[in-house]
Amino acid sequence: MISERTLLMVKPDGVRRSLVGLIITRIEQKGLEISNMRMFRMDDAFARIFYAEHNGRDYFAALLSFMTSGPVVALEVESPNAIALVRTAIGATRPEERLPGTIRADFSIQLTENVVHASASPTDAERELALVFGDSRTTLGTVHN
Ligand code: CDP
Ligand code: MG
Repeated sequence: MISERTLLMVKPDGVRRSLVGLIITRIEQKGLEISNMRMFRMDDAFARIFYAEHNGRDYFAALLSFMTSGPVVALEVESPNAIALVRTAIGATRPEERLPGTIRADFSIQLTENVVHASASPTDAERELALVFGDSRTTLGTVHN
């Protein structure tokens, strides 16, 4: 089966709560391969581009404020069906729909501060991986360390 790549990101609340190691362990234990990793703090310009599809929604300002509030840890994950597997592992967007055992269900009851992001489609995955790990990162974000 053809391998896929996706972006999994520990959001600022997950980093603040020291959940990075636990989330990486879950991914590794499942048998997914982590092929790249980066810690950085989004600036406003980067967050606006990363979440461009949400521009104009009533939660957009709160989302930008949250995503720029501290560093994130971005992981490139590879495996057959990586996009669907990682989306399943993180759990649903709505708190009441999150299944026990998923990262969001186990660590958050909130809609905005939900610990992790994962790409939703092959198009999103390529775009998000390029933003985070491609050349554009040097102009759009701030390296954390
Ligand atoms: O992250 P996911 O793909 O599951 O959900 P989304 O609908 O693409 O929304 C992106 C992010 O915006 C979510 O993970 C939440 O952090 C935030 N959001 C929010 O604060 N309020 C909403 N009504 C919807 C999303
Ligand atoms: Mg999404």
